[in-house]
Amino acid sequence: MPYKSGRHFLQIPGPTNVPDRILRAMDRPIIDHRGPEFAKLGLEVLRGLKGIFKTDQPVVIYPSSGTGAWEAALVNTLSPGDKVLMVETGQFATLWSNLAQRFGLNVEFIPGDWRSGVDAAKVQEALGADTRHVIKAVCVVHNETSTGVMSDVKAVRQAIDREAHPALLMVDTISSLACMDYRHDEWGVDVTVSASQKGLMLPPGLSFTAISDKAVFASHSSGFAKSYWRWDDMLRANGKGFFPYTPATNLLYGLREAMVMLNDEGLENVFARHSRHAEATRLAVKAWGLEILCRNPEEYSSSLTAVLLPDGNDADEFRQLVLDQFDMSLGSGLGKVAGRIFRIGHMGDFNDLTLMGTLSGVEMGLRLFGFSNLRGGVDAALDYLTRIRTQQSG
Ligand SMILES: Cc1ncc(COP(=O)(O)O)c(C=O)c1O
Repeated sequence: MPYKSGRHFLQIPGPTNVPDRILRAMDRPIIDHRGPEFAKLGLEVLRGLKGIFKTDQPVVIYPSSGTGAWEAALVNTLSPGDKVLMVETGQFATLWSNLAQRFGLNVEFIPGDWRSGVDAAKVQEALGADTRHVIKAVCVVHNETSTGVMSDVKAVRQAIDREAHPALLMVDTISSLACMDYRHDEWGVDVTVSASQKGLMLPPGLSFTAISDKAVFASHSSGFAKSYWRWDDMLRANGKGFFPYTPATNLLYGLREAMVMLNDEGLENVFARHSRHAEATRLAVKAWGLEILCRNPEEYSSSLTAVLLPDGNDADEFRQLVLDQFDMSLGSGLGKVAGRIFRIGHMGDFNDLTLMGTLSGVEMGLRLFGFSNLRGGVDAALDYLTRIRTQQSG
């Protein structure tokens, strides 16, 4: 491979760029994970995560990718044969439902068009029809990373409450936590799962799960066999800052640093920054004359933007061209939208110039790909970001 000068642009929607500060924080000798220094670290990160999830209830950390937390959520609270209601917002909702099916759960999967978020009215309809309360959990993806569509979790909670249905509410925030507003307690979520490699700016390898009292209670009668994923062992050890098995110590150092950074910037500012970069990206896409996959502006994601290429164009060929020419990785289309879209990740450790570099690479790539007259996307984003700065300093 020929040497490529400058830094690679990793603009996939996760894993995201890890700031040098976090890399340095992890560059430390291993400590005894049963000793007092570890207990302090453990308690600090477990407490700190509550602020990120906006919860007073426990958050557990697994040395696993997000998929592990998906599995843990189901096997801790449910029993084989239980019915769960899921919504087909895209590839990740589909994978979660596949996982549930593999465990012998009976999944009712509300079909979707991969361009819209969860329709709370349809959730309500399904729960209303379930007069015997067979459905034990409603599982939704807050930010569907495969489509760039965000769902209204609060509306799903209200739909459940309007039917006075006892189902647990489980939410995947793997690509929304620390990017977009999320409120585990206020929105009445029972299990929220997330992971380290997106908004939290860490390498892959940690998953997080916020657990309500109701979910803990449900775990007491769950019929699934499990060992590694058991919440009770984890919660007991976490009480003193420890883990029931060897934790990913150095990732926890990184997590501690990530939380300092998020708190220094202020979570609300972090959300505003993501929203600004998402809006600038959409202005660029519109100026290029391309279509955003997300249909409803109220459901636009702040973490990523999925862009449809006109029929007859292979989005994977376009991404390959951008990688070869500009050393930038863009997200591929997954599942039903494979080859039709590319995804621009704008989450995590990101600023105006990172975005402008990214959009420049996309615009140059599009011209080289055959849209030779395409202009104006970079200018549109630049104008918008400058206008915001002017307003802020005025
Ligand atoms: C929304 C969402 N859910 C679940 C996953 C799966 O997580 P992991 O790949 O960390 O297992 C991803 C991964 O990108 C995701 O974006």
